[in-house]
Amino acid sequence: MCGIVGAFRREGGVLDELIEGLRVLEYRGYDSVGVGLLEKGEVVVHRRAGRIEELEKLLEGQRGSEARVGIGHSRWATHGAPTDENAHPHTDEAYRIALVHNGIIENWQELKSELVRAGVVFRSETDTEVLAHLVGRELATSRSLAEALGRALERVEGYYAVAVVSGGSEPELVCAREGPPLCVAATGEAAYLASDVLALLPHTRDVVFLEDGDVAEIAPGRISIKNRETGVVERPVRHIDWDSEAADRGGWPHFMLKEIHEQPDVVARAMFERLDLERGDVILAGEAFSDARLAVVQRVQIVACGTAFHAGLVLRYMIEGLAGLPVDIDYASEFRYRSPVLSPNTLVLGISQSGETADTLAALRLATLLGATPVSICNSIGSTMVRESEASILLEAGPEIGVASTKAFVAMLVAGYLFSVRMARARGTCTKEEGRALLDDLSGVRPGLEHLLARDSVKRIRAIAEAHAGKKGFLFLGRGINFPVALEGALKLKEISYVHAEGYPAGEMKHGPIALIEPSMSTLVLVPEDPVADKVRANVEQVRARGGPVICVGSDPESLALAEDAIEIPNVGRWLSPILGVVPLQLFAYFIAAKKGCDIDKPRNLAKSVTVE
Ligand code: G6P
Repeated sequence: MCGIVGAFRREGGVLDELIEGLRVLEYRGYDSVGVGLLEKGEVVVHRRAGRIEELEKLLEGQRGSEARVGIGHSRWATHGAPTDENAHPHTDEAYRIALVHNGIIENWQELKSELVRAGVVFRSETDTEVLAHLVGRELATSRSLAEALGRALERVEGYYAVAVVSGGSEPELVCAREGPPLCVAATGEAAYLASDVLALLPHTRDVVFLEDGDVAEIAPGRISIKNRETGVVERPVRHIDWDSEAADRGGWPHFMLKEIHEQPDVVARAMFERLDLERGDVILAGEAFSDARLAVVQRVQIVACGTAFHAGLVLRYMIEGLAGLPVDIDYASEFRYRSPVLSPNTLVLGISQSGETADTLAALRLATLLGATPVSICNSIGSTMVRESEASILLEAGPEIGVASTKAFVAMLVAGYLFSVRMARARGTCTKEEGRALLDDLSGVRPGLEHLLARDSVKRIRAIAEAHAGKKGFLFLGRGINFPVALEGALKLKEISYVHAEGYPAGEMKHGPIALIEPSMSTLVLVPEDPVADKVRANVEQVRARGGPVICVGSDPESLALAEDAIEIPNVGRWLSPILGVVPLQLFAYFIAAKKGCDIDKPRNLAKSVTVE
């Protein structure tokens, strides 16, 4: 989804840094891109539909730009098609300011009519241009750009992260946040802003995350923040451990493949310093995860979107099975509009890689308003979700760049398992010895993943994927705790290879999808060795009997023997089987997409983090 960068240097031009920043944000998905620079005090804007390379062509000859202040934007179209005119930055009529924006201005039509009546001529179809004109008009009667922006925003309803530059004798760079994320950083030499902390890491690891209602003015060595409600505020500087190198492909053809191969380490990091084998328990930071607090919880409500939702479905099996607690799970976008009724002592668990997904945040807030205790499982330390939760389990998966989520999913399952064991211990549904056994089971996960990701194993999965790449459709089946893995496998395939794929509970196959079975429809079945293995085996037989090609993925030897293509995975027990089961499905999707020549890390129409509804 849209990305924002901004830079203000004491000396030397900022154009290269802005382009590099936009490149870091490319993974989030975009369809047009632009920069706004202050060249000798004058606002100059360069914008292009398409990829950054298109903008670079336009900028050829400009790379010697001496602009010390500038902003940049990658746009994911919402209002108006992805054209040069609709690309950001937008300016006011007199080109006093340039502005970039993520989010939505809900009352833009009303404001636009008012501005048109006042004689303003619009140059784009965007909601953003309205804000550019408002800021430009306020500037005439304000003491600073920050004041003008604050005043303009008073008229705006909606969600936004904005950055604005103004020219004249004293250049100014300001930004504001209400909803979508924004962070700022200052060194002695320069100051930076970005919608994603990854774009700041090449400059500094010490970062300030803005809060809703904040307007920040930044310059080399200086950050001043004013909040709409509380006036001048100091926000804490957070040190980010993530390595900017980690956002580099490091020789892999795609981030997705790199991130799939990181999964053994990701699992180890998610467990690091959290296992108390002596007490058969899990150490989770935060009062909300203490014995006393968890013992009184009566229900868990999970809210999430996309892949995180699938992780939540797996967690439902784990929490109910291990801690004996009822669990409800909703797509966050559904939860927020269905008048939910929560029982007393509900724990609402938000699951999100980014911690910025608009629907998940809104659902978490709604549940909190209804009396639930908000906790989260999240990958981004400074994210809104983490800040709004009473306690969080951080995934420690490092930056995930591939739009189709892989390693974050696996880390969510590990974090969810740890949470379930903690819950079970706090509520006394498992003894110290049982807790110890559950934690011992984790020791098989990393070697199991390494086995699946060994060269020969990947080669074999690739061969199977390529043999099926021409099929017209795919059915993914799983039962019990592996049903959500089937959903995730189908999602991966459709996201990156654009072929139709459906995930289904294996037992439901006979109520509909069986009608689709024919030689050009491949069926992938998850076949772990678990209490429902014989039932899944019966499904495999049913598909085979109707001439459908079957690929079995799992550890049940009898099912594997039935299928024409079999991918064996090490048996790590029922609760942890999804962590291994999903990996061949990720690779299957990857190799089909690669064979079809798809843009794997930046699939069409998709965004990494959906910060608008
Ligand atoms: C987008 C991404 C998905 C992701 C979903 C939820 O749709 O493309 O990969 O699963 O958002 O994102 P979150 O950051 O909340 O996990």
